[in-house]
Amino acid sequence: MRIIKAKDYAEMSRKAANIIAAQVIAKPDCVLGLATGGTPVGTYKSLIEDWYKVGDLSFAEVTTVNLDEYRGLPRTNDQSYWYFMHENLFNHVDVRPDAVHVPNGENPDAEAACAEYDAIIKAVGGVDLQLLGIGHDGHIGFNEPADHFPVGTHCVDLTEETIEANKRFFASRDDVPRQAYTMGVGTIMNARKVLLIASGADKAEIVKKSFFGPVTPEVPASILQMHPDFTLVADEAALSLI
Ligand code: PGA
Repeated sequence: MRIIKAKDYAEMSRKAANIIAAQVIAKPDCVLGLATGGTPVGTYKSLIEDWYKVGDLSFAEVTTVNLDEYRGLPRTNDQSYWYFMHENLFNHVDVRPDAVHVPNGENPDAEAACAEYDAIIKAVGGVDLQLLGIGHDGHIGFNEPADHFPVGTHCVDLTEETIEANKRFFASRDDVPRQAYTMGVGTIMNARKVLLIASGADKAEIVKKSFFGPVTPEVPASILQMHPDFTLVADEAALSLI
């Protein structure tokens, strides 16, 4: 585990973008595993502004697979993760539209939707670099605290804590979908590199628990301690309890 300390959110975002850019430069046809949420917005912005727009980076050969998607939200809904990725990254760079993948939340058949997504990840050759945020309960993707680490893509019931955390993006709490399709912890662990970003004092407790506590499915991110190429980029506030 490598820890890179940044002074604040802006510096964390630039440092994470630099690591992603380095991956794409070293392997232009790589597979990037991407994440949604508040934390990666600055990272995507830095990739666009500091790398793509100045002509130092191209996504023309890159393939992307996203971690998760709400079950039941159409792609056109502005809270879908498909929509988020297009708004925050894909619409601003030269990635090919057919090279971006997000679990199909519009397919109500959970088993089929998850099997299809695992087949896509397999067909593209697995993930070279997986970007992750971390939930306050230690979730990665939508892998919530559980009694085991799920391996492949699966349908999850969101916890009350996650519904509460995500309601800020919806008109009301009732509008937050109750289920999601998410990549499994096994797929995340199979990524050749993992990069987790964390910012803010509200993440300090879970960062400490995940990376300096016991490895347990009760804290899903804790398994990253066992990944052979795991980098945590966090700001001083998120590292304040370490
Ligand atoms: P956040 O979400 O980046 O909005 O804090 C992180 C997550 O839930 O994975």
